Amino acid sequence: MTRLVELEEQGPRKLDASDIDDEKGDIAVCRCGLSDSFPFCDGSHRATIDEDDGTTYVYEDGERREVERVVTVDDGEDE
Ligand code: FES
Repeated sequence: MTRLVELEEQGPRKLDASDIDDEKGDIAVCRCGLSDSFPFCDGSHRATIDEDDGTTYVYEDGERREVERVVTVDDGEDE
């Protein structure tokens, strides 16, 4: 199964003080979709810092590339 998710955020969301684990300390939730520790931020969002507005990027195997558009194929199966 492949899942394509469009995300535009370039940094994490820190939780409120009441959400913070006393043992782990500060926790940030990933909003860029690149974290290897999803749903928690692992700093991978730094790769998005120089993205241009209006450009679509694909991140795959640690590499970033620009794409003209994303095409998906409907395989005709119902969910
Ligand atoms: S916001 Fe996604 S890795 Fe930090």
